[in-house]
This record gives sequence, C-alpha cells and structure tokens, in this order.
Amino acid sequence: MSRRRQIYEGKAKILYEGPEPGTIIQYFKDDATAFNAEKTGTINGKGVINNRISEHVFTRLSHIGIPTHFIRRLNMREQLVRQVEIIPIEVVVRNVAAGSICKRLGLEEGEPLPYTLIEYYFKDDALGDPLIAEEHIACFNWASHEEMHDISSMAIRINDFMCGMFAGIDIRLVDFKLEFGRLYDGDYSRVILADEISPDGCRLWDMKSGEKLDKDRFRRDLGGEEEAYREVARRLGLLQDDDNGPGEVLDLSSHRSRLRGTPPTKK
Ligand code: TMP
Repeated sequence: MSRRRQIYEGKAKILYEGPEPGTIIQYFKDDATAFNAEKTGTINGKGVINNRISEHVFTRLSHIGIPTHFIRRLNMREQLVRQVEIIPIEVVVRNVAAGSICKRLGLEEGEPLPYTLIEYYFKDDALGDPLIAEEHIACFNWASHEEMHDISSMAIRINDFMCGMFAGIDIRLVDFKLEFGRLYDGDYSRVILADEISPDGCRLWDMKSGEKLDKDRFRRDLGGEEEAYREVARRLGLLQDDDNGPGEVLDLSSHRSRLRGTPPTKK
C-alpha cells in the first residue's frame, strides 16, 4: 500500500489525505495537551475512545439534521471525513460556569448560568486562542453574517441534543467546544460541523457525584483519565462491560481520594 500523505498534525489528531478527492482521514492520537500545550502527556487508549465517541455523537447529530463532516469510521483510530475549510473560530457553549469563564468573571465553578452562553475564540495557538466578539469576526471577515447565523443556531441545537443525550446517562453537560468548516460546491459554500466531539473538548460531570469525566482530570492532575473516558463510552453503550473484564462495571472510587476538595456539583 502506498504511504498516505500527511496533511496536518494537530495536538490530538493527525490528518491524512483521504482515498478520494474531498476526503480526509482523521487519526486520533493518545496525546493530550492543556493550557495551550504548556502541559503535555498521554492518556492511554484515548484516541480509540474519542474516535468511537465522536463517531457516535456526529452520527446522532446527523440524525437530527445537523450537517457534519463525518462519513464513516475506518478502524480503531481513524475516521473518514469530508475535507472542509476550517473556520478559524472555536465555538464554546456553556451551561454551567467552569474553566476559563470562572477565572475571567470571578464565578464559582458549578454555578449554573442564567442561560446558555455561546462564546467565540480566535483559533490561533500563537495568540493562545483569545476570546473574541462577533464584531471581531465581522471586522476581520473570519466568517460572514449568514455563516454566524448558521453556526449559532447549530450550536444551540447541538447543545439541546447533547444535554438530553448525556442527561439520559446521568452526565451533566457543563460546556463544550465546536469547530465548523466550509464545504464548497463550486462557488457556493455551506457550513458544516467539523473536528470532533469527545471528552477532550467537553466538560462532563457525573450527575450524582459531580465527578469529572473529561480532560479536566488531566488538566488538573486528578488521575483516572483513562477510566473516565472509558466510563463515558461505556454509558453511551459503546463498550461492552467485558471490555473492562467480565461483568466489571467501571469504578472511579480509587481516584476519589484525589478528588477530595472538589466541590460537589451544585444544582
Ligand atoms: P475553557 O473553560 O478552558 O474556556 O474551555 C471551555 C470548553 O472548551 C471546555 O469544555 C474545553 C473546551 N476547549 C477545547 O476543546 N479546546 C481548547 O483549546 C479550549 C481552551 C477549550
């Protein structure tokens, strides 16, 4: 087999040229970074789990009419996607205060927000992905008014769908990040959902215990990140119980001592 041409290597994924024009292969790595890659590490098996979780979420979203780049999963670590021109904006949807908004505005982690917030960050590692307003997006022509309309309405629909999906498995969707891309058809382009949706780019808290089931375990040195990612996949029905040993149900209790001091989730 001929060697595939690598198009791009990001922090958590590698993109290769796909088998047909207009397609790309996304390879999910185990590498993890945080704080604009100041902190680096590996989460064993993360790539395999994120590939499955993202496949699941993108497939479900396409069933409710969200256009996405996802075509099909190829193997444990790879999926075939449509090639798009990535819009250089990270779209963050927040339901509950956590992470950077707490620092920026002095909010307490776990405070529910009065209503869902959509924030935009300029996708530029050298600048540390700064928070931007829609005014900046228009001023610098990063996306058109019509594209932003499509992006914000898709973000709200995705949030509503994902809140319900996760609530059904006892997980609170605190916040998450989306990326969109332009799919060209001649001169015409439309915006579709791109990148991935996985515990790398979402905050997911167990509804009962408040335990974090996402990349904050890595960011904050809480330990148990592999177990947390697997737990999300298991609850979504993507892992057989015997993937964790016969009949074994995943238990994060061994990491609970390290979680002392983490405030329980507030309603
Ligand atoms: P933040 O609280 O650090 O701004 O993050 C908000 C959400 O966006 C959180 O679920 C993590 C996700 N996120 C990414 O996926 N990539 C990033 O580079 C950043 C900063 C956040």
